[in-house]
Amino acid sequence: MARILLVGTATLDLVFELDHSPDADEEMRAQSLRICRGGNAANTAVVLSQLGHEVEFFGTLADAAETSVITHDFHVHGVAYAACPRLAGRPPTSSIYLSGANRSIVHYRDLPELTLEHFQIIDPAVWDIVHFECRNVAVIAQAIQQFRERAPATRISLEIEKPREGMEVLYSLADMLIYSRNFALHSRFTEPVAFLDWMRSRAPRAVLTLGWGEAGAYGCAPDGAIKHVPAVPPETVVDTLGAGDTFNAGLLDALVRGDSPEAALWRGVALAGKKCAIHGFDLGELLQKNDSFVI
Ligand code: ADP
Ligand code: FRU
Repeated sequence: MARILLVGTATLDLVFELDHSPDADEEMRAQSLRICRGGNAANTAVVLSQLGHEVEFFGTLADAAETSVITHDFHVHGVAYAACPRLAGRPPTSSIYLSGANRSIVHYRDLPELTLEHFQIIDPAVWDIVHFECRNVAVIAQAIQQFRERAPATRISLEIEKPREGMEVLYSLADMLIYSRNFALHSRFTEPVAFLDWMRSRAPRAVLTLGWGEAGAYGCAPDGAIKHVPAVPPETVVDTLGAGDTFNAGLLDALVRGDSPEAALWRGVALAGKKCAIHGFDLGELLQKNDSFVI
């Protein structure tokens, strides 16, 4: 068991299951609606807690009634959140449309991000790992640098999902960089190995990983070959929302265990595959099942 701090966003997710994707101007009925907590770092936190780690989420929370959906879920899953600044506003909200393999997300956010002052409440030395979502680059860069000075032994992980202005400064600050397929495609790479080859010249000190949806994941140690592992699909794929966040939880769990990057990829894809079998993130029983890849 390790102590892991997850820095990023917690959202209110409205998840509509549809029998087809809506056309423009179409009015349609959804098959089901789930109103639940979401957000990348928050999803990863909930999964890590179920793996037995001591986990805290750190991000701004809106001072609004709807936030109770988020905090209740943290409470149920044993994720601490007491250090989160409460700000006036509404929680970041996603309308998510799932139909078959299609997944559309409409996201709205006007809640301010964390500032450097907010980070002063955190003692980095008590955490084995601090994982960041790449959001407000300038603040995150300074927070990581301060954490590095105050707690050199604490490992830093950074998820890079979307392009952000000036984000390159972060590449040399993390021990593990977790890239998304979207980011690679946005950087004009359709080939995962070519993307990682390019990226390792810009981030020569970090372990790099890259999820590639149903095609599995890729990764490399700073001085090692680029490895690929296939996805581990369940019998029936029920819901891939947050598969990437669950994959990240597997990577962080592997970092704690001192796994090689390749073993970490296996752990990530196995865990993400289990998540795809269920709606949401209550992996409890699946984690106890003695199937082909035991986590
Ligand atoms: P995101 O959910 O952030 O879009 P990806 O689609 O890259 O992230 O998925 C992350 C990981 O989740 C993949 O590397 C893969 O292991 C797993 N995964 C995603 N989709 C599936 C699927 N349909 N079946 C099995 N595993 C999947
Ligand atoms: C899934 C997710 C959702 C959230 C959205 C934010 O990865 O974290 O829970 O609404 O992405 O971009």
